[in-house]
Amino acid sequence: MKKKILVTGGLGYIGSHTCVELINKGFEVVIVDNLSNSEASALDGIAKIAGERPTFYEFDLLDAEALDKLFKFEKLDGIIHFAASKAVGESVEKPRLYYRNNLQTLLNLLDNMVKYDVQNIVFSSSCTVYGQPDILPVTEQTPVQAALSPYGNTKQICEEILRDTVKAEDNVKAIALRYFNPVGAHDSALIGELPLGVPQNLMPFITQTGIGMRKELSVFGSDYDTKDGTCIRDYIHVVDLANAHIVALNRMIGKKQKAKYEFFNVGTGTGSTVLEVINSFEKTSGEKLNYKIVDRREGDIEKIYADTTFSNKELGWSSEKNLDDMTSSAWKWQVALREKQATEA
Ligand code: UD1
Repeated sequence: MKKKILVTGGLGYIGSHTCVELINKGFEVVIVDNLSNSEASALDGIAKIAGERPTFYEFDLLDAEALDKLFKFEKLDGIIHFAASKAVGESVEKPRLYYRNNLQTLLNLLDNMVKYDVQNIVFSSSCTVYGQPDILPVTEQTPVQAALSPYGNTKQICEEILRDTVKAEDNVKAIALRYFNPVGAHDSALIGELPLGVPQNLMPFITQTGIGMRKELSVFGSDYDTKDGTCIRDYIHVVDLANAHIVALNRMIGKKQKAKYEFFNVGTGTGSTVLEVINSFEKTSGEKLNYKIVDRREGDIEKIYADTTFSNKELGWSSEKNLDDMTSSAWKWQVALREKQATEA
């Protein structure tokens, strides 16, 4: 019997890639997504790549009645919880929206896990919980710092909710994955990131500039204390990240956890500057990128990258793809999107 996994936000960027890897590894996938930051067409992409169409429920996880019905009907073996609001700037403008969306939805899931005895949940957390760390690279022992935004705070509180819930509920177990910077797309270019409006993140801004949708990329600051003065991040290919979820899930299902609540860094361990990302993009795409250096962006962290020793050893997971794989797949996806839009027009 295939294990049945509920993927919340399964049509989103990381969710859709994870659904593909789940199906590839023999899981049955059920998706719930309210399409607030995703498109139903991602379902076709998943089905084409994986050769199997997941069951799809379109509703909001705040709808407790609909969620209860889903749990009653689908006999789930685990949950991977991606669905959340994720724009840092917007979270500052609309904090209550973020607290409601990100905290209440997790609580609704946990209520149903207890009620229907679903034991395993993988939670989508973020390296944002570390703020600007004093010592690099960042291990899981690096202290969590006061969040810089309501969005970041929701990730911290969700981790605490999980930690407290597994203590109180005998059958619930959880793993939080603290992602560094997910980028790139599936090699088939059938699924990828679909940013709403003007992208705030570096990679989609680069590819949209490369394709002519944006005039130029602003590089935020060149006077940081780094090798070329631009900020350093640990970019991770979204397919590598997707695979970390399957490894985490199997660890819970296989009862290999050392504690009922665990958390792992999911990065490559390599830091890249903004200019290194641009260089890689220019190399793999063959396009010259139009960019200029501007002032620093408020709230940006100078440098952060992961120590992946613990996830490599303990989780048995490691990243396989390098920066060129990330920029080339992101570009391939952007080109495929343009062709798709041209056909639809
Ligand atoms: C942002 C979010 C973080 C989230 C992460 C991954 C903030 C404060 N943090 O972090 O919570 O987990 O995305 O989705 O927004 N850059 C430019 N020009 C641009 C865009 C970005 O130079 O137009 C630079 C930034 O200054 C930064 C790097 O590129 O140095 C990466 O930026 P971004 O993709 O926004 O990710 P983070 O800042 O790491």
